[in-house]
Amino acid sequence: MNSPVMQGLALNVPPYVKNARLIAWVADMAALCKPAAIHWCDGSDEEYQRLCQQLVDAGTFKPLNPAKRPNSFLAWSDPSDVARVEDRTYICSEKKEDAGPTNNWMAPAEMRQTLQPLFDGCMKGRTMYVVPFSMGPLGSHIAHIGVELSDSAYVAVNQKLMTRMGKAVYDVLGTDGEFVPCMHTVGAPLAEGEKDQTSWPCNPTTKYIVHYPETREIWSYGSGYGGNALLGKKCLALRIASTMGRDQGWLAEHMLILGVTNPQGKKYHVAAAFPSACGKTNFSMLVPPKGFEGWKVTTIGDDIAWIKPNADGKLYAINPEAGYFGVAPGTNTLTNPNCMASLNDNVIFTNVALTDDGDVWWEGMEQDAGNKPAHLVDWQGKDWTPAIAKETGAKAAHPNARFTVAATNNPALDPQWDDPAGVAIDAFIFGGRRSTTVPLVTEARNWTEGVYMAATMGSETTAAAFGAQGVVRRDPFAMLPFCGYNMSDYFQHWLNMEQRMSSQGHSLPPIFCVNWFRKNAEGKFVWPGFGENMRVLKWMIDRIEGQAAGTDTMFGVAPQYEELNWTGLDFTAEQFKTVTHIDKAAWVDELKLHDAHFEQLAYHLPQALVDTKAALQKRLQG
Ligand code: GTP
Ligand code: SPV
Ligand code: MN
Repeated sequence: MNSPVMQGLALNVPPYVKNARLIAWVADMAALCKPAAIHWCDGSDEEYQRLCQQLVDAGTFKPLNPAKRPNSFLAWSDPSDVARVEDRTYICSEKKEDAGPTNNWMAPAEMRQTLQPLFDGCMKGRTMYVVPFSMGPLGSHIAHIGVELSDSAYVAVNQKLMTRMGKAVYDVLGTDGEFVPCMHTVGAPLAEGEKDQTSWPCNPTTKYIVHYPETREIWSYGSGYGGNALLGKKCLALRIASTMGRDQGWLAEHMLILGVTNPQGKKYHVAAAFPSACGKTNFSMLVPPKGFEGWKVTTIGDDIAWIKPNADGKLYAINPEAGYFGVAPGTNTLTNPNCMASLNDNVIFTNVALTDDGDVWWEGMEQDAGNKPAHLVDWQGKDWTPAIAKETGAKAAHPNARFTVAATNNPALDPQWDDPAGVAIDAFIFGGRRSTTVPLVTEARNWTEGVYMAATMGSETTAAAFGAQGVVRRDPFAMLPFCGYNMSDYFQHWLNMEQRMSSQGHSLPPIFCVNWFRKNAEGKFVWPGFGENMRVLKWMIDRIEGQAAGTDTMFGVAPQYEELNWTGLDFTAEQFKTVTHIDKAAWVDELKLHDAHFEQLAYHLPQALVDTKAALQKRLQG
């Protein structure tokens, strides 16, 4: 195979790489970024071990105690690089209107000019990893291939767990297959002979997460963390894929996918959108509580769903990912035992605390019996004791600390998780994090009302993004930071789905709206959440089967207290009222916020949503 030499740097194209466009692109990017070496990832276990060892030698990884956490590592990031940077994320479509008012925008030509000098020589002194990956089962007609060029070995090993990564991708690519080019650099070139002064190189002042939807390219500069750097995830599987979905008639969503099987063996599939750090991973691994003997919940995906209408009139969903990059704090054997079991071995932890016996710890673990450590090293490498925490409020783990783990570690993994055909969706759920106003659960009376509920969803912001915490912001469809085009056009795309299916005589799944997070006057969550969410899930299935009448409310059909199975849980009708009642005064204010939201989205806002708003207003007054 041809192996051109770039400025003394051998491209070293492996013989099994035969895609001319890929080879030419790697050559161009090597010429631009000027790495010291190029490594074509083959995705083998041997390569994974070698790169992990290299990260250990560089001080980026601490190997954990093999007796406690076999083949697992802990990374601590730079304190300036701990979450997605939404204010540095750009959708560079040709026209500003196509990015819409919720995305940062810059003209593509101007952005290219901005990035050119930054990428010029950005990988000096580092290795450029060529990371080929498939989002979705290899060769599936729903899947798409990406190739990430990154100067971070941390990215390469994370992508091995998070995606189908390696040699087999080149076979699918063949000589002329399509791929999404994903450029990534930590933005910290090394001068001749210079050694890293830090174990987490990044650019502390300059960050850009850039998408060109028309040419389907991703350029990420300056961060090594999560969605900023693992470009298959939010950048490709949501921002770029949502524009593909718009053009091709499918959906790319910030949704978990779960299977739920009743005691008679009938299985349903549910896709649910909650904003970042609002319970997708938890819900996708739910363990049915007491009172639900014989029920089973299985995980297809925990974060992203690609959903396509099929000729049989159903919507089929796949999980484009192959692993979980999940929130650690709050996770323990009481809240999510399946998740804890997934973390027994072969895990990469980022920004959690280190115990004295070489294991990991984070806030929330103290709820597990016998797990109240007297001393830890926190995520910034400082001593942590309960006394210090009490005095200074110091967190042992960063609130957005995460684990990276392959889906195959999950004991509740659905047998169809890797099925190229996907699973047929029986219900959609949307849910934000709201201390007030939004009830525990309601069902939209029709598709348009469901789209309205999703479009106006609000949520209190979480540590998953850099910025203010706990402020209510509109997060339509949990896609605010992830929609690669104009949000109002995206609403229309969802509305169109109904016309399209009904014109062929098919109906769409019901849409439910949930809120696990209502608080009482003392500021405590009233709904127990986690496994107990099964009670709500079961009510949804009863609705699908026509076995729960519900009651009509201003905001959709709600359950009556008696319609939920309360076996095994002490939850009174009074408490139920606290999480379900609709406070008219609060809703008057809420609808004002919907108005402001719609004003922002006025360009191309579907009339059907304006009409739904008017009907809601009328019901509230009536
Ligand atoms: P991303 O990966 O950021 O997209 O987040 P996610 O939606 O997968 O969130 P995840 O399931 O990891 O949950 C994040 C936080 O919410 C954790 O601290 C959980 O403990 C908490 N959480 C999850 N489910 C519930 C629930 O039902 N009730 C309450 N009160 N908290 C929950
Ligand atoms: C999210 O923020 O929704 C995540 C984590 O799933 S990250 O991959 O960092 O975007
Ligand atoms: Mn997410």
